[in-house]
Amino acid sequence: MTPIREDEARAEIVRYGALLYERRLAHGSAGNLSVRLDDGSILVTPTNCSLGALTPEQISKVSPDGILLSGDPPSKESFFHLAVYAERPQAGAIVHLHSTHAVAVSCLCHDDTSNVLPPMTAYHVMRVGKLPLLPYYRPGDRRLADAVREAAKNHHAVLLANHGPIVSAKSLGEAVSIYEELEETAKLFFLVGNRPVSLLTCDEVTELEAAFRN
Ligand code: 13P
Repeated sequence: MTPIREDEARAEIVRYGALLYERRLAHGSAGNLSVRLDDGSILVTPTNCSLGALTPEQISKVSPDGILLSGDPPSKESFFHLAVYAERPQAGAIVHLHSTHAVAVSCLCHDDTSNVLPPMTAYHVMRVGKLPLLPYYRPGDRRLADAVREAAKNHHAVLLANHGPIVSAKSLGEAVSIYEELEETAKLFFLVGNRPVSLLTCDEVTELEAAFRN
């Protein structure tokens, strides 16, 4: 793997934070982004900050066991970021946002919480895959990090009940792209509403999973 330069990772977090804010996927002080560095420490957005107005210097650097090494006080969700990295050696970046449609899905009652968005489009299946709903815990609760750790063993995208999605990927650009796909599927889900929907069949989903393994 190409080494990750810390200054470039900081600049990327600033750039994607602004982009997500401009696209209205991030609002107020909600959401957090992180990138894993080669030594296992992470750069994560500070707590209570707007993703639209970050500076490279303020970004928090946190050790794998959660100690602040430099920068502003880190996101209260740093622990679930670290839990995902611990379970997914291939993950290099994480996006967690409170985007409107995905959060709306997280507030619905679901009979089957193992996958809460139906296979409406190929791109959702290819990019997001199965999206489990995890139980509600207050933001920052260490039990939330434990639940995320367990789900991250088998999923790169999970949805926190009454809260929002967490997406991990090799790079921040890829995590943002997957997050956007998830939000668009959630939007489609409400757009089609109760009308009869022609979903992809099990065979079609299996074919996509085999051809585009995440
Ligand atoms: P932080 O401001 O601590 O990152 O928390 C925001 C958030 O999205 C909580 O889930």
